[in-house]
Amino acid sequence: MIKAENLSKHYGALKAVDGISFAVKKGEVLGFLGPNGAGKTTTMKLLTGFLAPTTGKITIDGNDISENLKKAQKKIGYLPEGAPLYEEMTPRGFLKFIGAARGLEGRAFLKAFDQVVKNVGLESVLDQRVETLSKGYRSRLGLAQALLHDPEILILDEPTDGLDPNQKHKIRGLIQSLSKNKVIIISTHNLEEVESICSRAIIIHQGKIVADGTPHELKTKSRYYNAVLIRGPVSGHKKLAAALEKLAAISGVEVTREGQSATLAVLAAGNKPPVGEIQKQLAKSRWPVEEISVDPGRLEDVFRTLTTTAEEAA
Ligand SMILES: Nc1ncnc2c1ncn2[C@@H]1O[C@H](COP(=O)(O)OP(=O)(O)OP(=O)(O)O)[C@@H](O)[C@H]1O
Ligand SMILES: [Mg+2]
Repeated sequence: MIKAENLSKHYGALKAVDGISFAVKKGEVLGFLGPNGAGKTTTMKLLTGFLAPTTGKITIDGNDISENLKKAQKKIGYLPEGAPLYEEMTPRGFLKFIGAARGLEGRAFLKAFDQVVKNVGLESVLDQRVETLSKGYRSRLGLAQALLHDPEILILDEPTDGLDPNQKHKIRGLIQSLSKNKVIIISTHNLEEVESICSRAIIIHQGKIVADGTPHELKTKSRYYNAVLIRGPVSGHKKLAAALEKLAAISGVEVTREGQSATLAVLAAGNKPPVGEIQKQLAKSRWPVEEISVDPGRLEDVFRTLTTTAEEAA
């Protein structure tokens, strides 16, 4: 549905987007992750035809967008970063205006309007001036305008930024329910969101793709992947940690303390959780284990490893 080939956008010497290629299919919810300034917003602006690329080509449903931008844009709903809106309008007036621009009028507009107002929860502010809306309601209105014409492609730049936890949950549910027949690309700084709604994630760093896979695939790159987590009392944990560290199947032990409990993250040296070795050691130590689990890997750890520059790490 969307194909980007060798896409780049330069601002003078700065390569905001630097040779990115990817393709997205219907049914996918793709998350763009990356630190501030990585190039997520710029990539989204290129995909929506809002900016022209310095190099590269974008095809939407087989059509090169540089040849017929209007046709491509009809298929796209776009929530720009920070949801820019017309301050003096009301949400009702604004959605009417967007509807008209999208060719939605009369009954078709009303049907779309009612649906979207309900889906994003705008009922209570429909006739309030945009400039007086709270941040979360501004985000909701931005989302509503992107969804109004029920586009096949949704490009949402930080759609849950500024929403309260209830609304976040609702919008994530909405995105998931819409995803079956659409292509959805979202950018977010919320890694939990990626795990809960994205079928795939691309990590962007300094304008380049540094990882591309399902959240599970990305998590397997984490050093905590297959680590065995053992929680027990503070007393005696150091001795056990020291004994475990000596074992060949174990590459290291990290300890976190919380109140009277200590958790040992026993990192696997190979590609299996070192359960057998740990069991033997636990039996010897008689440390009273309260909980034991295998770590599925941590997205935050992968993100940080892939996007921390040498200077930042120093
Ligand atoms: N119009 C512009 N002129 C010059 N530089 C720009 C322009 N727009 C963006 N940039 C630069 O391009 C780089 C990428 O910016 P972009 O907004 O795409 O990052 P981002 O990944 O969306 O970051 P954030 O997480 O903070 O939203 C940044 O260094 C930014 O300062
Ligand atoms: Mg951005």
